Amino acid sequence: MKVMVTGGAGFIGSHFAKRLATAGDTVVVLDKLTYAGNPRNLEGFDIPLVVGDIADPEAVARAAAGCDAIVNFAAESHVDRSILAAGDFITTDVFGTHILLEHARKHDLRYVQVSTDEVYGDLEPGNSAVESDPIVPSSPYSASKAGGDLQVLAYVRTHGVNASISRGANTYGPFQYPEKLVSLFTTNALDGQPLPVYGDGKQRREWIHAEDHCAGIDLVLRQGEPGGIYNVGGEERENIDVIERILALTGASSDLLKHVTDRPGHDRRYSIDSAKLRSLGWERKWDFTEGLKQTVEWYAERRDWWEPIKSGEYLAFYREQYAERLGQ
Ligand code: NAD
Ligand code: DAU
Repeated sequence: MKVMVTGGAGFIGSHFAKRLATAGDTVVVLDKLTYAGNPRNLEGFDIPLVVGDIADPEAVARAAAGCDAIVNFAAESHVDRSILAAGDFITTDVFGTHILLEHARKHDLRYVQVSTDEVYGDLEPGNSAVESDPIVPSSPYSASKAGGDLQVLAYVRTHGVNASISRGANTYGPFQYPEKLVSLFTTNALDGQPLPVYGDGKQRREWIHAEDHCAGIDLVLRQGEPGGIYNVGGEERENIDVIERILALTGASSDLLKHVTDRPGHDRRYSIDSAKLRSLGWERKWDFTEGLKQTVEWYAERRDWWEPIKSGEYLAFYREQYAERLGQ
């Protein structure tokens, strides 16, 4: 199969592109190389990279020539950035998805939309979202992802596009841009910098290693039904538990931990039921303890990967997001 992986120079997309290439599929990556895209994520693999925007029909047509399928990872993906400025989220996550669906419709391509458990919104303790649940997103990011999902379902029903949706949990692993909880706190801890915990730190997320997330998406690509939605879940943990594990694994002092002003609209808990995907044969290979250890060790060894990122645009974002919170 020849697959166009959009956003394949980002965190999860690069794991996916390398997984397919290793398995013998032909892969082409279409990526705009925003602040989060990094060609180094594909180093060591002979994967063609087309630099372009999913919202540009000509770039999409150029990259997708001869492809049988599109798997769409391209997105603005960070909740905090969507709170600071949401415009790019609408352009990429909603309009960009529309352009890709148009291409899939015209050329009769298989299509997978990589979505998120955040579209289900805040979940009460004891409750886990199933795929038929309503979507009630809380942040501008999750609202834009929900907009993408609704476009996909409309194209399946109206135009008969052969498209499925995966909804994954919080993903961690090597090659994650250092702005998310695990990648930011690990790199800060390694540098002796503060770890800014939003609010009480008792929010709960499901954590899944990028390789397990990609295995789930791969199964959806090959076996998902048109219009089918598939949750790809992880292990539920309180943020503060994740943070204490990072402190222990890096050997950093707990004095670095700083409780700061909470994220506006912050969801307390995500939880998804992955029974549907498991019924297709999917299971996680990484448990959280082992996966987090492997990830922290990778960041400790790969300063050459993340230190250059923590400059320029990154520092401007970091100041805007954290300086006042940390009293800097
Ligand atoms: P990321 O921010 O690391 O990577 C996104 C990639 O998309 C980057 O390479 C970027 O350059 C590219 N991109 C952005 N706008 C583009 C555009 N207009 N055209 C072409 N390329 C563009 O994101 P990630 O964490 O790897 O997430 C990938 C996908 O998985 C996203 O759709 C996200 O919503 C979804 N997801 C992420 C998680 C998570 O925990 N990270 C969990 C569930 C779902
Ligand atoms: O659930 C899937 C989603 O997971 C994906 O769709 C998103 O693309 C991905 O960014 C992630 O969203 P979250 O908002 O859950 O991830 P983040 O790493 O930003 O935050 C995880 C938790 O940690 C959340 O409760 C907020 C908290 N946090 C995060 C940061 C960056 C802090 O307390 N301090 C921080 O500085």
